[in-house]
Amino acid sequence: MAIQDIRLFGDPVLRTPAAPVVDFDKELRTLVRDLFDTMRDAPGAGLAAPQIGVGLRVFTWWVDGELGHLVNPQLRLSAEQQEGDEGCLSIPGVVADTPRALRVVARGFDEHGEPVTIEGSELLARCIQHETDHLDGILFIDRLDKEARREALKAIRSAEWAGLPGPIVQVSPHATHGKGL
Ligand code: NI
Repeated sequence: MAIQDIRLFGDPVLRTPAAPVVDFDKELRTLVRDLFDTMRDAPGAGLAAPQIGVGLRVFTWWVDGELGHLVNPQLRLSAEQQEGDEGCLSIPGVVADTPRALRVVARGFDEHGEPVTIEGSELLARCIQHETDHLDGILFIDRLDKEARREALKAIRSAEWAGLPGPIVQVSPHATHGKGL
């Protein structure tokens, strides 16, 4: 079991596009274990490798009691959209209604290099889109409209973990159900 430190907003690794995995070796399997351990410890609904400082295209999820992982994901998104709360383990305490595709088909590989296809809707689809964004250096606040994004940035600036005094402000009044991603 190896729980890693989760990188926070402001860390450049979160803004750096991750590289495709080329070697499906023991190190990759250790990375996947570390992602699972760190995600479950947080706890979070998903975790991408850059969030623990590793610039590779790998993420894990833990949605509706199901654990999964995906390497080198390629997404196909439904035109139909969903609304709902979203947060991020790298931006603690900030939650906002974030538009996402309702359904996703994700193609990629497992930790052994076997091709896999994951089909998800609602929360799993949201999670897969959020984590794939992490691999491209994109954060959920980038998906908000201008006003909501401004509120989120304000909340980040006043968050304790950002090194400044002040309360953590929730952007959305809705329950988050503990859905850090
Ligand atoms: Ni996240």
